[in-house]
Amino acid sequence: CGIIGYSGPLEAGKLLLNGLAGLEYRGYDSAGIAYFDGESRIQVVKKVGKVAALRECAAKLGDVSHCGIGHTRWATHGGVTQENAHPHRFGRITLIHNGIIENYHQLTVEYGLEGKLVSQTDTEVAAGVLDALYSQCGGDPMAALKAFAARLKGSYGFCILFEDHPGEIYALRNVSPLVAAYTPSGALIASDLTALISYTREYFVVPEHHIVRLTPYKVRLYDMDGNKVAPEMMEVSWNMDAAMKNGFPHYMLKEIHEQPEALKNTILPRLAKGLPDFTDDGIPDRLFADCGRVHIIACGTAMHAGMVARALMEPLLRIPVAVSIASEFRYEQPLVDAQTLVIVISQSGETIDTLAAMRLAQSLGSPALAVVNVKGSTIARESDYVLYTHAGPEIAVASTKAYSVQLAALYMIGCRMAMVRGKLDQSGAKAFMGDLLDAVPAMEAMIQKKDQVRNLVTHLINAPDAFFIGRGLDYAFSLEGALKLKEISYIHSEAYAAGELKHGTIALISDRVPVIAIATQDKIFAKTVSNVREVRARGAFVILLAKESARVEEDIADIQIRIPDLADQFTVFPIAAVLQLIAYYASVGKNLDVDQPRNLAKSVTVE
Ligand code: G6P
Repeated sequence: CGIIGYSGPLEAGKLLLNGLAGLEYRGYDSAGIAYFDGESRIQVVKKVGKVAALRECAAKLGDVSHCGIGHTRWATHGGVTQENAHPHRFGRITLIHNGIIENYHQLTVEYGLEGKLVSQTDTEVAAGVLDALYSQCGGDPMAALKAFAARLKGSYGFCILFEDHPGEIYALRNVSPLVAAYTPSGALIASDLTALISYTREYFVVPEHHIVRLTPYKVRLYDMDGNKVAPEMMEVSWNMDAAMKNGFPHYMLKEIHEQPEALKNTILPRLAKGLPDFTDDGIPDRLFADCGRVHIIACGTAMHAGMVARALMEPLLRIPVAVSIASEFRYEQPLVDAQTLVIVISQSGETIDTLAAMRLAQSLGSPALAVVNVKGSTIARESDYVLYTHAGPEIAVASTKAYSVQLAALYMIGCRMAMVRGKLDQSGAKAFMGDLLDAVPAMEAMIQKKDQVRNLVTHLINAPDAFFIGRGLDYAFSLEGALKLKEISYIHSEAYAAGELKHGTIALISDRVPVIAIATQDKIFAKTVSNVREVRARGAFVILLAKESARVEEDIADIQIRIPDLADQFTVFPIAAVLQLIAYYASVGKNLDVDQPRNLAKSVTVE
């Protein structure tokens, strides 16, 4: 969910609504604001649907306010209804919340809230509990918040208005991220930076188990005992432009185009004499030398980057490399230890399952190296080492540039590890990095050929299902292709190891079912082509993705897309561009909401 709070001289309503529009990618099934009106009374406006719907109804109110909070929701507890939208009000408390209160049921009973609640949310329960504690603490917000935190189990980022403290916002954090800033325009707090960057370049990440108090003149940070704490100030490393569409019809298309630049930003600062060098990142070679195996942990697209890395690293390093879905890793009694290098991948650095999985691995003695895009995020701060990717802000819910820079970072890790472990000599490592750099213009070339992809999606958009097949690395690439297509076009898509198809899934191939076959690995090219023949013989509509120089009969596929010739390990970059564009144009062709597909959110801070 997205959170924003403001206290200061500006008109709060407008500022909150604009902030929410910028945060909408964090969740967008309903939205609401609460503010102190001209008479210091709290008003709440909320609405099912996007921020635009809220804006329409808030515009009619016209109240002058200088302090308020806003929320855009991704439903967890309780369906998508106006009652369940935030802010929630109970007695003297009005609050918004990101996270999940796990003991909400017990608290409902304990505080006699049954029958007094209007929503089905854990958040309203929290408001009820805080209201009771506020009275018990004689109307002292700090004391009430301390008692409140002691009663809650779960994750939370709260922004709270106390009815008798007009002009003030209190915030409380455990796990769910919050960032805050005092700016010439007033005091601001939000779930992420995109809501702050129009007002400031300086901010701080609210540490866990801390309270923030915002007044029009100050932002103060306190520990749970009410002692003032000096915040650790940080500077935003990108500008507002990076978070705008810049003439593109969608963020996703803009972010697809930004990939070559993002790749260069991630790779070049870490090249010394043509070799990968992590000295400035503070990552020592002994981390790579000492381990006996590698375990990669991530969710979603980041996990797919991990699948590619596994297929690259294991043959290169000749040590076991495993990949786990973070939400599975947490509950399967994993066999990691001090000899296992755990690599955690996360664009946001806040995905709760990834964070919890990393903490578990660390508790078992594994050193954790995080590949993260967002500076100062929780995973970045808690990992033992961090390699930042430099994609800039990624706004579209479907990840594109974050994926390719994750790959670049992982390829560089693989190369450095191979050097340190004697699997690549200097010239081998230089050649590897040369190939990686060659992949950048190859990706760019495919982005430039986007019309070729735009034309082919007419064959896809009416299909109920689509299949992506490939072998080896190509299979790892196809996982991400299928995910992209299903998440934004709602076409049911599956990725299959091409050779495995005949063991069941081929039963689903009938006339005109689209099969996107990826065949960029020279050694197994002929094998994949055989599988293409098998599906074609059963009526599939085949789109073949292969290297320029690959020799194959003209009629092997209905459509062929050729990528520039690259060494086998590096074809993922141009292939990723093609797969992203297929998904993008399919979504556009179906007239769907490309950047904010249904049911999804960019950053998942709940289990
Ligand atoms: C969500 C997003 C995905 C993303 C995944 C992991 O599901 O919609 O695009 O890949 O979370 O996010 P992370 O920030 O950890 O990379």
